[in-house]
Amino acid sequence: MEKTLIVFKPDAVQRGIVGEVLTRFERAGLKIVGTKMLQPDYDHFYQHYEGIGTLKSRKGDEIFESQLASMQEGPVIAMVLEGVEAVETVRKMVGDTEPKKAAPGTIRGDYAHVTYGQAASIGRGVANIIHASADSDEAQKEINHWFSDSELHDYSAVHEKFTQPGKKA
Ligand code: CDP
Ligand code: MG
Repeated sequence: MEKTLIVFKPDAVQRGIVGEVLTRFERAGLKIVGTKMLQPDYDHFYQHYEGIGTLKSRKGDEIFESQLASMQEGPVIAMVLEGVEAVETVRKMVGDTEPKKAAPGTIRGDYAHVTYGQAASIGRGVANIIHASADSDEAQKEINHWFSDSELHDYSAVHEKFTQPGKKA
């Protein structure tokens, strides 16, 4: 099974929609193997968004600094989800980075509508509810950055009999 990192951003926590969004992942059969609420500092997000995510290199200083400031506006909830090809499945459910472009039915498409241009015009990072690892390499690095081994749990979900050999009802 593959693991991926999701982070409910301050806009999701402050809007009180964490439970609703999380239900979508549980309904799809993804298993929560780690979770915590925290308010990381600039350096933590620097490593997350540039050291691992290369956002500053890709999008420039202005977008990068706006995004880091927006992420520090309140607590976030980080989780590690596990499942079959979890990274790709979760990204599909999350949708396009820009909510305006994100398809209906995706989390960003259903819960937000803002654009890159509007966010930049007010000096904010695009409020798009949730972070999700983009690929398996990023997932591995992000999980190590956000969670220690002892914070990740190993247990059987009842529906794993459908996805794993040797598991019985
Ligand atoms: O989050 P995702 O992997 O879809 O996109 P990214 O390119 O890795 O960018 C990380 C985050 O930076 C986005 O989710 C947005 O919150 C923010 N961002 C932004 O505010 N304006 C942009 N033009 C690009 C990204
Ligand atoms: Mg990314």
